[in-house]
Amino acid sequence: MVYADPNISNDRPVIRQLDDAAINRIAAGEVVERPASAVKELVENAIDAGAKRIAVEVADGGKTLIRVTDDGCGIAAEDLPLALSRHATSKIDGSDLLNIHTFGFRGEALPSLGAVGRLTITSRVPGSEAAKIHVAGGKVEAVKPAALRTGTVVELRDLFYATPARLKFMRTDRAEAQAISDIVKRLAMAEPAIAFTLRDVSGGGEGRVTFRADRENGDLFDALHARLARILGREFAENALQIDATREGLRLYGYAALPTYSRGAAVAQYLFVNGRPVRDKMLTGALRAAYFDFLSRDRHPAAALFIDCDPTLVDVNVHPAKSEVRFRDPGLARGLIVSSLRHALAEAGHRASSTVANATLGAMRPEPAPAAPARVYQMDRPSPMARQAAYRAQSPGFAELSQNYSGRIVEPAPEVAPLEEPQDLPLGAARGQVHENYIIAQTADGMVIVDQHAAHERLVYEKLKRQMAENGVAAQALLIPEIVDLTEGDCARLMAVADDLARFGLTIEPFGGGAVAVRETPAILGEVDARAMILDILDELADQGESQTVQARIEAILSRVACHGSVRSGRRMRAEEMNALLREMEATPHSGQCNHGRPTYVELKLSDIERLFGRS
Ligand SMILES: Nc1ncnc2c1ncn2[C@@H]1O[C@H](COP(=O)(O)OP(=O)(O)OP(=O)(O)O)[C@@H](O)[C@H]1O
Ligand SMILES: [Mg+2]
Repeated sequence: MVYADPNISNDRPVIRQLDDAAINRIAAGEVVERPASAVKELVENAIDAGAKRIAVEVADGGKTLIRVTDDGCGIAAEDLPLALSRHATSKIDGSDLLNIHTFGFRGEALPSLGAVGRLTITSRVPGSEAAKIHVAGGKVEAVKPAALRTGTVVELRDLFYATPARLKFMRTDRAEAQAISDIVKRLAMAEPAIAFTLRDVSGGGEGRVTFRADRENGDLFDALHARLARILGREFAENALQIDATREGLRLYGYAALPTYSRGAAVAQYLFVNGRPVRDKMLTGALRAAYFDFLSRDRHPAAALFIDCDPTLVDVNVHPAKSEVRFRDPGLARGLIVSSLRHALAEAGHRASSTVANATLGAMRPEPAPAAPARVYQMDRPSPMARQAAYRAQSPGFAELSQNYSGRIVEPAPEVAPLEEPQDLPLGAARGQVHENYIIAQTADGMVIVDQHAAHERLVYEKLKRQMAENGVAAQALLIPEIVDLTEGDCARLMAVADDLARFGLTIEPFGGGAVAVRETPAILGEVDARAMILDILDELADQGESQTVQARIEAILSRVACHGSVRSGRRMRAEEMNALLREMEATPHSGQCNHGRPTYVELKLSDIERLFGRS
């Protein structure tokens, strides 16, 4: 055969062994994609070395200089050349690639960095003199004596100078600096007991500290909470629920924010597996699923969650940057996230929105309000005693309640509602209604403003869901079963969840040759395109290992039904009706926010009101 390509000779292609420098440059392409990945490798090495303080300095977005200084165990002078050779590591012995307790395990990072930049490692182990080694573009120099008190300093200059093609792909200094800051913060979240500083030394000199987190003390949760407050801000910390749950050897802990502290994009989601920051579709999918019921589609939950387990239950060796993991039992991890977050959110469902209150007060005050981030609502939890009292309080039957609301004409509300004792009632006693949508109630130490439409919508929705959980979802038989052709594999995947689907009113059977027959669909959905629904479910199964399509659609319908079946704003309510609504809210989970993640009520403390009038 004759080769058409003029660059390839007519001779037989020759197979050559590449030299080490070329091998390292190729490996570097996978390990170091940009300055931030170099920072990640060096900081991870420092953490692995047991450092208590880690300082990162960068210049020009890390392109010209990255320097990481730590006070860890150090590298012995005679080991320095070894640290720079490929597949040399002190962290595993190679016998068990599934049992990894450190960030590093491949022995690739330093040789890769030395192949594409100018790398100097200076280090000292206790009881010996310090030494340094230099490598540039893969050429290693001899070890020399150096001066250093303790730990290790790794300096990387002119990253990618040896691979100009890669240099062209660098983004602006600012973008690279941002990525570096992001990676340092992620690692800092995972290690609250280590002090971190990040300094921008562009232009030489001392430079400027761009991030700093001191060592946090206290127990796991206190330290983590303080570190998260430092990195994600006070509002996150104030709105965060503590999560701690264990199931079959998997422990999930961390903090997840209330639905009313949500974001417009998935930017505040931090997930860690055995302390390693990961970006994992399955895990973020589980997070989304947990909040599914509380947030509208365009809002995203904020959370910092850690999964710890025996290293053998998760494979970290699936991605060159180790940012993806594979659980031996993905369903277990997903189920743990979904159920423990839902549980925590349900528990917090009664928290009143008192930062909405802060925002409200800020808006009312004549002086400029403190710059509060948009859409951050802090919620304040009524005392357990008050909650118990609320549960004990007689609340009218729900059916009766909704009947009262369903468009019956009632006499206009009296200007001032009859006095009811507000003691012990978290949402207080109704005192009046303004603008035909807002109930004003007096509580023991302040007042509450309720958006009656939002509140009622949530109550109806919760009620419908409860009914569905109790009685199951009614299924409607199709006159002619719809046959959907699939591959054998897809068919098997679908049949594996057939029982779950049946619970939601979707009945399917194998039809032979990879096809399935859809016999029944959920009645509440009305007429559905069964085929499209099946394909959606399969997509979701492939994506997340579990499908919520049917449930999601049913819940969306319930939510719409609830919206239409609720008291519209613009309807006057009698005092008893208002009080009944308040009591019902107290007794209903998740009633602190409506189906779109907006608060249903705002609480103002008397002290806040007094401050408004300059009385305190
Ligand atoms: N900051 C440091 N302090 C002490 N020892 C270090 C430090 N950085 C690197 N080392 C030593 O050098 C070795 C090689 O580091 P390198 O990052 O190349 O590989 P690794 O961390 O073992 O694995 P990986 O390639 O997965 O990061 C490490 O195993 C460790 O013994
Ligand atoms: Mg390493």
